[in-house]
Amino acid sequence: MSAGAVGRAYPRMEGPEKVTGTARYAVEYPVDGVTYGWAVPAAVVRGRITRVDAEPALALPGVLAVLHHGNAPRLAPGPEPDLWLLQEPVVSYRGQLIAVVVATSLEAAREGARLVRIDYDAGPHSTVLTADHPGLYRPDHVNPSYPTDTAEGDFDAGYAAAPVRVDATYRTPAYHNNPMEPHATTAQWHGERLLVHDSNQGAAPVQAALAELFEMPREAVRVITEHVGGGFGSKGYAKAAVVLAALAARHVDRPVRLALTRQQLFGPIGYRTPTIQRVRLAADTDGRLTAICHDAISQTSTLREFAEQTAVYTRSMYAAPHRRTTHRLVRLDVPTPFWMRAPGECPGAYALESAMDELAIAVGIDPVELRIRNDPAVDPELGRPFTSRNLVACLREGAQRFGWADRDPTPRARRDGRWLIGTGVAGASYPARSHAAAAAATARSDGGFLVRIDATDIGTGARTALWQVAADALGVPPERVEIRIGDSDLPAAGVAGGSMGTASWSWAVIRACDALREKLRDAPEGVQADGEVTAEVNTADEVGAQPALPRYAYGAHFVEVRVDADTGEVRVNRLLGVFAPGRVVNPTTARSQLIGGMTMGISMALHEEGLLDERYGDWVNHDLATYHITGCADVERIEAHWIDEQDAELNPAGVKGIGEIGIVGAAAAIANAVHHATGVRIRDLPIRLDKLIGLSPLA
Ligand code: MOS
Repeated sequence: MSAGAVGRAYPRMEGPEKVTGTARYAVEYPVDGVTYGWAVPAAVVRGRITRVDAEPALALPGVLAVLHHGNAPRLAPGPEPDLWLLQEPVVSYRGQLIAVVVATSLEAAREGARLVRIDYDAGPHSTVLTADHPGLYRPDHVNPSYPTDTAEGDFDAGYAAAPVRVDATYRTPAYHNNPMEPHATTAQWHGERLLVHDSNQGAAPVQAALAELFEMPREAVRVITEHVGGGFGSKGYAKAAVVLAALAARHVDRPVRLALTRQQLFGPIGYRTPTIQRVRLAADTDGRLTAICHDAISQTSTLREFAEQTAVYTRSMYAAPHRRTTHRLVRLDVPTPFWMRAPGECPGAYALESAMDELAIAVGIDPVELRIRNDPAVDPELGRPFTSRNLVACLREGAQRFGWADRDPTPRARRDGRWLIGTGVAGASYPARSHAAAAAATARSDGGFLVRIDATDIGTGARTALWQVAADALGVPPERVEIRIGDSDLPAAGVAGGSMGTASWSWAVIRACDALREKLRDAPEGVQADGEVTAEVNTADEVGAQPALPRYAYGAHFVEVRVDADTGEVRVNRLLGVFAPGRVVNPTTARSQLIGGMTMGISMALHEEGLLDERYGDWVNHDLATYHITGCADVERIEAHWIDEQDAELNPAGVKGIGEIGIVGAAAAIANAVHHATGVRIRDLPIRLDKLIGLSPLA
């Protein structure tokens, strides 16, 4: 691509609509005769529904219907038991959505939901993950299709023979996705056609799921997703809101708007599984790793298997002749875990990058230098060179920008009044993948161009990035290009997930624009009567033919924290990240993605924690008053930088994806800095002040 729009800092094109409130989200479309749905959660953990008394709710003015397993329209049993809603009198976890009240006003629906009486036969339950749970088993594979366990060399022998060893177990709690916009849908049936305005990360899988559940052809389902107020993975597939809204709309034969409440996000939409991770590292006295083992335990539900790939990060991050990784899972009476920003890599990196810090101290080598010394020349898994691997460059540039060189490694050596000061570092990596996508490009008779692709902008700036990419691919100023996304009637393009959105969609957009230019050049007679020429492409063959090479984005986080010597309060003075993300299409939106991920890393390290009370099998803290999330005041100085990286083995735009790399490793860097400040190693997140006080009096 020539120097043009790509690389320039355009503001988001839909920014004015968003800040003036005219951008429409899923339940904001004006629809004639619209009604309102309110979901009812199960009040037991495991059991059967024995009776639903809808009468008090139906007696309320405005209430049109109470849907439950006894009267809801039938759904085909699909591969996703989580979506087979209101079909059976069975409760699989507390908070499962088991009824919907539909009314002519939101208030009546809400009050109706309060009045529905449901009786249950409740059985015993098990909801808390432990390392010795009798239900632990070995899944066939981990997400999305990685081997469950790997082994190379002889870990036990290599570990036993090494002069320096670290053996530590790290725990992470359940983390709940809290996008600003909840999962929400407006559903309308037009005869045998279903139209949903839905908040999701990709219309195509939602369209497919609805078609399957309601046994209709895909073309009869239209999913419009113009703007999305965040997803973080939780909207990467059809979820309860869209199915319940469609069921309710069919039942009452009117359009239905249904948004989950904030409380209903804690469970039914999925969450990051808690983990228990044992990491063992062995090294020679020069700090060269000789043995690495990462054993991860996580949970899934009784409804379906979700096997998070927690230890996969460790398979390619650092080299050692003797390596082993394992995953074990237990089925609990809990909602099914799901994707949350860098699922697997994020909690896995917390454990490994913490253990690397412990090893640095054990062997007496600077933690930046330790990582540089163990940077593998080829991918330890594939045995092939990385398409580009710039972890070392990120570490070096980060150390220089941060001022790492003068660091005294002694814990508790720096103090500023009542504050103990410490610094920490961690590495980061995230796969740079692409998925197949289709796109269409049209030349208009007025000299303008239209590019259509069913991409989804979940608040990332994807719309703007694709517009820039299209302009350069067409060789015209971006002002002449119109981009249309977020509608299943457009060429199908896959989800905004796995940091694959821009990588995949730009591929299809570039190919569509190339095809259009060729068409205009070679066959001007192809011009239609209206003066338009269109080219449509699908990248499936080209993406499928890509050689299996190790492709990763890398990063390094540098942190300074201060810890109150009396109270244990932790504050992040400074968080600096340097990333190797391939080509950066738009520095403004890229920076937002990276500092957004890093901020979520602060949240993971210090604030967020889903607390489950085994007695009730329920989350104790399921609102934003009690489930703490990092706010602006918690982020003092934050910087995201990137190195100039060219990689021709990725995709035509040369991008690696930036949605997730920012959170990977951030929590470890903070935990490492807290150790440096206090001498206290916290191995179970979040780092709460009571843990710091309890483990060792600070003052
Ligand atoms: Mo992301 S968790 O792949 O949406």
